[in-house]
Amino acid sequence: MRPWIPTAAVTSVLVLLLACACPTKPASEPEGATPAATAGARELRLPADLDIPANEALKTDPRPYTAEIQASGERTFRLMCTPCHGADGTGSGQLSQGLRLAMPDFTDAPWQAQWSDGQLFFVLTQGHESMPGQDARLTDEQKWDLIHYVRSFAR
Ligand code: HEC
Repeated sequence: MRPWIPTAAVTSVLVLLLACACPTKPASEPEGATPAATAGARELRLPADLDIPANEALKTDPRPYTAEIQASGERTFRLMCTPCHGADGTGSGQLSQGLRLAMPDFTDAPWQAQWSDGQLFFVLTQGHESMPGQDARLTDEQKWDLIHYVRSFAR
């Protein structure tokens, strides 16, 4: 029988485990984000430094909503957004957890109610704080598909 020799993969997992004397610092609020409203004990926030023009905030998807739009949004979300937002939309992605980003919870109906579709579309396009803008990566249709999908977490 061959003696057990740790492979590179096993070794790197061990190194990771050993290196993970993980600091337990709680995730801090991103700079510029202030509580905009308070519902019960829970804090709601709209980033104070977001200045979204009224005509952008009022934008909506001109297309009628379909099952294909929902499916396309889900496909793109799983590909590009789950590393931070998590497949469950709560912000549970490994990348955002690892970076200790302050994440919105898409399943939270009061959070959803703070935003218009146009505002979400604007942030998705331009980015904000650690949220990367997708202007160059996605078509307007793909971005609207994603907004519908983001909305569906709280439906
Ligand atoms: C690198 C991690 C990361 C990735 C990848 C990412 N997001 Fe975000 N997202 C964030 C963070 C952080 C916030 C909170 C930003 C803030 O405080 O305004 C956010 C916020 C949002 C918001 C709410 C607007 C806001 O400012 O809070 C929406 C909608 C959103 N993301 C959609 C998406 C979609 C759709 C994708 C995939 C195309 C995506 N995000 C990819 C980190 C990420």
